[in-house]
This record gives sequence, C-alpha cells and structure tokens, in this order.
Amino acid sequence: MPFPVNRPRRLRQSETLRRLVRETTLTPADLIYPLFVIFGQGVKNPVQAMPGIYQYSVDQLLYEVEEVAGLRLPGVILFGIPEKKDNIGSEAWNPDGPVQQAVKAIKARFPEILVITDVCLCEYTAHGHCGVVDGQRVLNDPTLEFIARTALSHAEAGADVVAPSDMMDGRVKAIREKLDAHGFIDTPILTYAAKYASAFYGPFREAAGSAPAFGDRRTYQMDPGNAREAMREISLDLEEGADMVMVKPALAYLDIIHLAREHFNCPIAAYNVSGEYAMIKAAAAAGYVDEQNIVWETLTAIKRAGADFILTYFAKDVARWMQDSGKG
Ligand code: PBG
Repeated sequence: MPFPVNRPRRLRQSETLRRLVRETTLTPADLIYPLFVIFGQGVKNPVQAMPGIYQYSVDQLLYEVEEVAGLRLPGVILFGIPEKKDNIGSEAWNPDGPVQQAVKAIKARFPEILVITDVCLCEYTAHGHCGVVDGQRVLNDPTLEFIARTALSHAEAGADVVAPSDMMDGRVKAIREKLDAHGFIDTPILTYAAKYASAFYGPFREAAGSAPAFGDRRTYQMDPGNAREAMREISLDLEEGADMVMVKPALAYLDIIHLAREHFNCPIAAYNVSGEYAMIKAAAAAGYVDEQNIVWETLTAIKRAGADFILTYFAKDVARWMQDSGKG
C-alpha cells in the first residue's frame, strides 16, 4: 500500500520508538580492547598516530585492565613488543616474554577478563615479517612450528583464546595439534581468516614495532580485490579446527563481513584497525567530524554487516560514553 497509508516516519517520531524498532544495537559486551605490552617496568609510551593508545609494561598494563574490567568490557587482545629480535622470532614463545607475563598477571588479578593473545612473529623477527625468511621469501611450512609454539606458550601462561594473525597456510591445524597434544583441548582459536594486505595497519606497525624491513606482506595477506577467496580462507580455517573467524580490516571490508555472515554459522569477529582509529581521531581533533557519533555509526555498521563482536581501540570510549549517558 503506497503513500499516504504507508508512512515510515511514524516509527521515527521519538527516541523510545526508534529504540524499540532498532535492528542493530551496540553494547560494551560486543567489544574487545587491544593492548600493547612492552618489556620493562614503569613504561607508558604514547603511540604517535593513535591518541590515547600506549605501549605499557606489565605493571602499567594492569591499570588499563582494571579500567577495562570497571567498564564491564568482556576482554582484551594482547600484542607484545620484545626486548630483542632475531631471525626466527624466538622471543615470541619465551615463557617470560611480555605477553606471557601479562597474561599471567591479568588472569591472577582479573580472572573474569577474557584474555585473547595475538599469535604472530612480526613483532619478534628482526626483518619484521610474520614468518621465517629465506632471502626475500617468506617461508610457509617452516614457520608453522614457531607459530604453534607461540600459541602453546600463551595457553600455558593462561590465555583464554589464541588468535593467529600471520596468514600462513595450515597454521590453524598446526596450532590445534600442538595445543591438543599438551592438553589444551579447550583453548579456542580465533583465526584472522580473511586478513587483507592493508594500508590501514600503518599506525599499528609503529605501535608494535613490526614494520617489514623489506618488501610487503602481499605474498601472505590477501589481495584487497578478492571476496570469494575470503570465503575459501574461512572455510579452510574452519576445516582445520578454528572456533571463530575474523575479518580484518573492518570498514573497507563490510561486504566481506556480510558475505561471511551469509556463508558460515560460526562466530564472526571484525577488527576495526589502527588506521580506522587514527583517521577518526585526526578528523575529530581537527573539528571536522563529531567523534562520538561517528564512532557509534561506524561500529554499528560493522555489527549490522554481520560481526558478532568487534576488536576496537574505541572500546573503552564507547563503554564510557554509554555509562555517562545511562545507556550502558
Ligand atoms: C600482526 C598484526 C597486525 C595487526 C594485527 N596483528 C599488523 C600487520 O599485519 O601488519 C594490525 C592491527 C591494527 O592495525 O590495528 N601480524
């Protein structure tokens, strides 16, 4: 029945009515907060392109996690910056490395906080690639054992979930086998399944000290033009034993999140990455956009596309805004 019988504006008259018929809602329970943990004591280094984001030593990190817990966010994802790097990234599975120490300290003080660990070698290799190299080539199969060892060391420290972000073929299987062989049959794997070779990671590489010393990551991360291939990556990871899958970045890949939602029934995460954060922060600081509204709209779009939860540097801000407005 056309106008004037049908008037969609009837349901937009008040905030109460709008809230009643809202199809997608955002809550702090959907958000995971990324944290950078660095070796040392009393360290809090600001990350240039990411206002409000720091590298913390474990002692300082605990104040952040206390805030996360107070805001009733479900959890954090940890990235490590080691004291020394080598060609195979061996500090990644050091049981006393910054991530392993942080996991132990967080689980001891805040057992209810979900601790996810990023599993990758790029912060730990001298050349900055996510796998071991032979000349200019990043080798797949020799990397798998190191990735699996790293995941195991995180599980041994008490990590609730391990999240491989290296994009080597077969790493989910290698991690699953390693974890199971050591009794960690209940540690879930959140795989960065559809991870694109993206310019949106720029600020992260400063935060994590992980820029590649030569070349780029295009031989292992996905080509931005491909969507069908993302579905293939996701199904391969699920076959290998992944429990949850991630699409990354989020904003320029909303179609991929949506496609994944249509194809698969597993939980889907999206990573609202460092460049997406930096752009909004910079535009808001210049007075060009309203930060709160734009963050709200952005994260809602990511959920509407089909993400069950979002890893975002805005997690604390959103939770705080909700508390302040009485919505939280
Ligand atoms: C490690 C990793 C990266 C990110 C998460 N894990 C960087 C990269 O692949 O270069 C990016 C996160 C962000 O930009 O916020 N491989």
